[in-house]
Amino acid sequence: MIEYNARSTGCGNINAEHVGKQVTLAGWVNRRRDHGTIIFIDIRDRSGLMQLVISPELSAQAHKQAQEIRSEYVIAITGTVVERAAQSQNNNIKTGKWEVQVNELNILSSAKTLPFSLEDASSVDEEIRLTYRYLDLRRPEMHQTIAFRHKIIFAIREFFNREEFYEIETPILTKNTAEGAREFLVPSRVNQGSWYALPQSPQVYKQLLMAGGMEKYFQIARCFRDEDLRADRQPEFTQLDIEMSFIKESDIQALVERLVAHVYKITLNKTVQLPLPRMTYDHAFSTYGSDKPDLRLDLPIVDLSTSFAGTPITFLQNILSGGGKIGALCIQDQSFSRGELDAWTDKARKAGASGLLWIKMNQDGGIESPLAKHLDEQQMSKIKQAIPHFAPGDTLFIVAGKYNMAWTALGRLRLLLGAALNLIDTTRDEFLWVVDFPLVEWNEEQKRFTSMHHPFTRPQDGWEGKEPSTLTARSYDIVLNGVELGGGSIRIHEKELQRKVFDFLGHDENDMKNHFGFLLEAQELGFPPHGGLAIGLDRLIMLMLKQASIRDCIAFPKTSTGADLMLNAPTPVSEIKLKDYGLQVIKKAAQKE
Ligand code: AMO
Repeated sequence: MIEYNARSTGCGNINAEHVGKQVTLAGWVNRRRDHGTIIFIDIRDRSGLMQLVISPELSAQAHKQAQEIRSEYVIAITGTVVERAAQSQNNNIKTGKWEVQVNELNILSSAKTLPFSLEDASSVDEEIRLTYRYLDLRRPEMHQTIAFRHKIIFAIREFFNREEFYEIETPILTKNTAEGAREFLVPSRVNQGSWYALPQSPQVYKQLLMAGGMEKYFQIARCFRDEDLRADRQPEFTQLDIEMSFIKESDIQALVERLVAHVYKITLNKTVQLPLPRMTYDHAFSTYGSDKPDLRLDLPIVDLSTSFAGTPITFLQNILSGGGKIGALCIQDQSFSRGELDAWTDKARKAGASGLLWIKMNQDGGIESPLAKHLDEQQMSKIKQAIPHFAPGDTLFIVAGKYNMAWTALGRLRLLLGAALNLIDTTRDEFLWVVDFPLVEWNEEQKRFTSMHHPFTRPQDGWEGKEPSTLTARSYDIVLNGVELGGGSIRIHEKELQRKVFDFLGHDENDMKNHFGFLLEAQELGFPPHGGLAIGLDRLIMLMLKQASIRDCIAFPKTSTGADLMLNAPTPVSEIKLKDYGLQVIKKAAQKE
């Protein structure tokens, strides 16, 4: 009987040095091929695969057992490592030169046919993979991702330890702090009718740690947000959270740059060129229609508003006289058919534009456009002044409207064009700091200005008395390949300023006291100037591994509707339990009545 804890090495670790030696292996049956007298089994563990050869001559016991073995049985074996005959060596796997001749075999666990084949997992419905996530995790691709995640977290800890940061845990049961996203609430059994909130981020705790004199804090922090999910969003996700005292923007940015360079070197052996470029929010939005531009795509938005000044085209005239703008994307060397142009017009509408105008320059320099009759030589020369590289074979896509709407639509269109026409160099990594964000944005639902980041963000000096939409904050985002990787700011540390900002954001006296009384009090008891940032760790891993979804980077992710399919959560709870918490469920249908 083999002691299964007596593994001498991992399946994937076997090499030339083991030839002629006895080994003990344990793992899953990846595949079994029965050639009658000889049975081949590929055994798999975390380290890789090894081919086993089982014949009655080597061991009648092992051969008998091997006959009943199926895929995904867990077995343990002992045997001798031999070099495979030259013609049966498999150069596609690192242990493909050797095999183990088995002289003893134990079945440790049997397995029914799996609900999906691990080899075909990429074509299997994601819901099935998530229902049986532990099976999905057995795939080598998932092992690589989880190993990568471990490695990156280890590198992060190593980095911050070297930089003399403390890793400090903050509570999960906490208080509603009005940070922006909707929160998950947890009812208190002891204080019926009162609720904890799960943290959207450890924001107030990390600020209070600065008040506590910790000076340099980091945490691999679990965060919770009850918001609409997308490929790069989960209701439960992990942040690398950082806060420092006595710093300015450049200090935290330099720290994050050193961190990114360290992590890329350790995990991917890649060099990140420092310092990372910086761009103001205004420049990012006016050039790329986004606060997180993908710089791998060289397709800027050009402002044609002045080129069309005095145009006879009535609807453009109206837009310009109403304070709107006209923006264009110049797609070089791309001639679109009428059908394709119609399809792009549809896409532009879906992206938020009220329509799409196009101008094609034919090879002979002639112009084709629904506006052609208004595009005389004078008008075309004004357009060419704004876009000097507009040349035969190129097409302009033009969107007109209110600045925010038209530029947001152009920004989306830009990315769609980049993807459809293969204009994005996906082998490159383009980091960027976006700085000088607006302090507030107009919230149409609430009919008031709300913080663009959070209400603890420090406004830039001289903010008082200015038009709200023109105010900028001492905040910064780090962007990678068009994805917001992280964001942070210099904070408010003085009570008076914090009160003014709360007041400006429409929080009344009561609201301030109830929600932020503790912070306002701390700000009167010796609060150092401080600032920080948080990086979405799942997003960072997704981008580093060039994966399409953060679900692939998390061991047990939720579906796009926030469900854990494996444990089947969330689920209703019994009446008795509800009573314990003093709760009653009002069904949706009943609410409507
Ligand atoms: P912010 O809200 O910008 O800032 O979040 C920081 C980073 O966290 C990641 N992130 C998410 N990742 C996955 N799923 C989500 N639902 C999700 N939401 C956010 C993003 C984002 O850039 N307390 C501040 C930071 C600070 O000011 O220090 C904060 O949480 O990558």
